Amino acid sequence: MKEIYRRLMNESQGIASRYEVPEFYRRFKPAVAISRRIFFDNPLLIHCRELVTPQYVDDFGHGLQHATKVSMDAGTIVLLEGEKYFTVQAEMERAVVLVQLAGLLHDIKRMEEQHASVGAEAARELLRDFPLSSVEIGCVAEAIASHEAFSEPGTCDTLAGQLVADALYDADKFRWGPDNFTHTVWYMMSYYQVDVAELFGRFPWGVNGILRIKETFRTNIGMQYGPEFIDLGVRIGKEVYQFLQRHLDSLGMSGEDNALEEPEDNVSGVIEDGTE
Ligand SMILES: [Fe+2]
Ligand SMILES: [Fe+2]
Repeated sequence: MKEIYRRLMNESQGIASRYEVPEFYRRFKPAVAISRRIFFDNPLLIHCRELVTPQYVDDFGHGLQHATKVSMDAGTIVLLEGEKYFTVQAEMERAVVLVQLAGLLHDIKRMEEQHASVGAEAARELLRDFPLSSVEIGCVAEAIASHEAFSEPGTCDTLAGQLVADALYDADKFRWGPDNFTHTVWYMMSYYQVDVAELFGRFPWGVNGILRIKETFRTNIGMQYGPEFIDLGVRIGKEVYQFLQRHLDSLGMSGEDNALEEPEDNVSGVIEDGTE
């Protein structure tokens, strides 16, 4: 990563550290801990992580760290929502394993067109040798196929499958919150070699675009706690923007020609929809 982006990423992380973490993590600490334990202890997840780690070579802001966070948050959502769906604890834990597998695998084809459907097929292939039933593999693949932002939710055959798909979507969209500015946007800037002045110009539009995702959460937990992630991310983003404004000169750019100009191309997705 170029020094300028690393410097801005560090600054953004400093800004984010002054905010309290989202209520989701504070309120549901026990479920967060259980999801984490399953993620690191379950043999299927350990094996899957070993397989996907080399595939996430180019981070692009959607690497193993992103996949890990999505997996753990999705597992927490399944545990919290699962009381309505499961009467047997083992069934609930199995659904957590499935959603975490989906979390680990959902962006393995992130660099390709139609990465959700291509990723779903890759996941089917990769899971073929796992001790999973065809229904379970289908459940993971369908969740991955319908995880793209603003896409229509897929319809799964089973309630558990639907929960897994919806939880994956929501946990992935939690990343449009603080993570977008502490991590993702800088890796994507670096990858696309976006000029800092260009970023500055499109920043307000990108930040406003992020807000639209709040309407798309699919689980009750996502609908209730997801918007706080997004609002928090936007607050951090606005502070990052103010920082850019104050340091235009020292960052080697003049913002006069760029500030508040509507972006002309589709690459405004670096801020807005690069996060899915
Ligand atoms: Fe994705
Ligand atoms: Fe993702």
